[in-house]
Amino acid sequence: MELRKINKNDAANQWEYTTSLPEDENGLTNPFHGVTYEEYLKKVLPLIISYEHPKDMPDWFVPETYYYLWDGDCIVGEFRIRHCLTEALRSGAGHIGYSIRKESRGKGYGTAGLKLTIQIAREIVPEDEIYLRVKKDNIASQKVMLNNGAYFAYEDEEHYFMRIRK
Ligand SMILES: CC(C)(COP(=O)(O)OP(=O)(O)OC[C@H]1O[C@@H](n2cnc3c(N)ncnc32)[C@H](O)[C@@H]1OP(=O)(O)O)[C@@H](O)C(=O)NCCC(=O)NCCS
Repeated sequence: MELRKINKNDAANQWEYTTSLPEDENGLTNPFHGVTYEEYLKKVLPLIISYEHPKDMPDWFVPETYYYLWDGDCIVGEFRIRHCLTEALRSGAGHIGYSIRKESRGKGYGTAGLKLTIQIAREIVPEDEIYLRVKKDNIASQKVMLNNGAYFAYEDEEHYFMRIRK
């Protein structure tokens, strides 16, 4: 298993994953659901790669890097790291967002992928802790976080806010 940063050489596999990911599942949003391969190559891939060093983006946008979890020659998941927190991220989505391909769930990929993602995030994130947010009814994702040493910080009506010490 390997976590690989988004790149141009893996375009076909990344596109296939992106287009199969729902538009919104448990708060993980994907505005690129259903894009054609041509559109992905021309617009979406360069745009997502540019998120790491954003240009002409609104003030609220912090650098964000996408990684893909590979098992052999198949992408089984996507992990996104937001490099630092704004006030909105601190009380919102936090540093990391992730998803596992539907057919590949329940096999330990989520837990293993978050572990690899945290190793990278520790080097990037300036805050003392890694912030995560999960919906109260998303038991699988709560377990993925707890399996990686997350602790419960607080809750609102809909979510638990979890943190992992660096
Ligand atoms: C959440 C998600 C990433 C979990 O990925 P996964 O690869 O299935 O996770 P794992 O296989 O590592 O499973 C973690 C734990 O959840 C449990 N689990 C998996 N699917 C479950 C389900 N549908 N209901 C309850 N528990 C579940 C597993 O048994 C495992 O339990 P354990 O730690 O006691 O062994 C995946 O379901 C997903 O992509 N969901 C949609 C997007 C999403 O919710 N992203 C997270 C937003 S915070």
